[in-house]
Amino acid sequence: MFNTKDKMQKIQMVDLKSQYEKIKTEIDAGIHEVINNTQFIKGPQIKIFEDNLAATLGVKHVIGCANGTDALQIAMMALDLKPGDEVILPVFTYVATAEVIALLGLIPVMVDVDVDTFCIDTNLIESKISSKTKAIVPVHLFGQCANMDEVMRIAKKHNLFVIEDTAQAIGSVYQFNSISNKMENSSNNEITQKAGTIGHIGTTSFFPSKNLGCYGDGGALMTNDDELAKKIRMICNHGQSVQYVHDVIGVNSRLDSIQAAILNAKLPHLKEYEVARQNAASWYDEILGNNANIIVPKRNANSTHVFHQYTIQLVGIDRDKLRAQLAEKGIPSMVYYPIELHKQKAFEIYHKAGETYPISAQLCQTVLSLPMHTELSKETVSFIASQVILSIDSLLV
Ligand SMILES: Cc1ncc(COP(=O)(O)O)c(C=O)c1O
Repeated sequence: MFNTKDKMQKIQMVDLKSQYEKIKTEIDAGIHEVINNTQFIKGPQIKIFEDNLAATLGVKHVIGCANGTDALQIAMMALDLKPGDEVILPVFTYVATAEVIALLGLIPVMVDVDVDTFCIDTNLIESKISSKTKAIVPVHLFGQCANMDEVMRIAKKHNLFVIEDTAQAIGSVYQFNSISNKMENSSNNEITQKAGTIGHIGTTSFFPSKNLGCYGDGGALMTNDDELAKKIRMICNHGQSVQYVHDVIGVNSRLDSIQAAILNAKLPHLKEYEVARQNAASWYDEILGNNANIIVPKRNANSTHVFHQYTIQLVGIDRDKLRAQLAEKGIPSMVYYPIELHKQKAFEIYHKAGETYPISAQLCQTVLSLPMHTELSKETVSFIASQVILSIDSLLV
């Protein structure tokens, strides 16, 4: 509990209730409209949301689906990836990125990450490319883009598809070093492009705690390619273009109308949510940035950071003890992620003997995510950060 202006506030990793209370009128009206119309599936709210998100991101097509995991699977189906094809991904990511690859009979080929950005280390990608490699899935982890100049340059050179997993980085802006690395059919000639709109397909999640979250499961795919967009739409809806005519094998994965209505109420606030997260990150930095036992999140010079997570690295500190001390003071924390993918039982079979991932191994032992959401005040962040420092000092003696 944290005492602020005589009000006891429970510190949470994510505070969706306070966020809701500020936009309750729009959210409630949107939900009631769906209930009144009873168009729970394929209601008008979905196209409105898809069009508005496409305009916000600067991409030709957005196609809603049931969740971010499905979005990745549908992307791989739309690109006609076949069993045995290899797909390159970072070894330090949420399981969903690897899960769908394995589920489709594809081979996940894992690559270590960059120690500063926690995103795929593009210097290591080419050594993992074989004649079977068909795609790269960069994950824009914790809110900033991977090195997309290099991802796109390598993909062009080896004729590979790029599927950007932007579940954690919606709204993040990538600035290219060279415009020649962009896709030919990208929607603009600017040197900057939003996360998820750079590769052949982008995927995202609207899981409630995400930067743009709905009140259940939801997801979407983004593309500038008209043909791919058509195919993605078919796959999401049982592979049908016309009702009861099934041209390709599909799935049942649609964004439902109530979730689209909620997203329509939240989308106009995305920028303000981003700024709130960035402010919280800089308040954390002010207090944590000069401590020898903490490495605060480093920023990719080519990407804005939308701080889905504020994740520090601990140097010479027992993470479990620190977490326990913080919990006693009412401060939650999380470890994203404690185990690298190749060490997970489900993925052991894809691990080649002798392959090591030293940066990911280090991160799994040292990362700690602190509360990060749109409703954090400077007072609360300062309280959390100073308690982190006090706890670290007590663990050093
Ligand atoms: C990087 C990443 N990819 C994919 C997903 C999957 O999204 P969903 O939970 O909507 O299926 C997540 C969700 O946490 C994620 O963080």
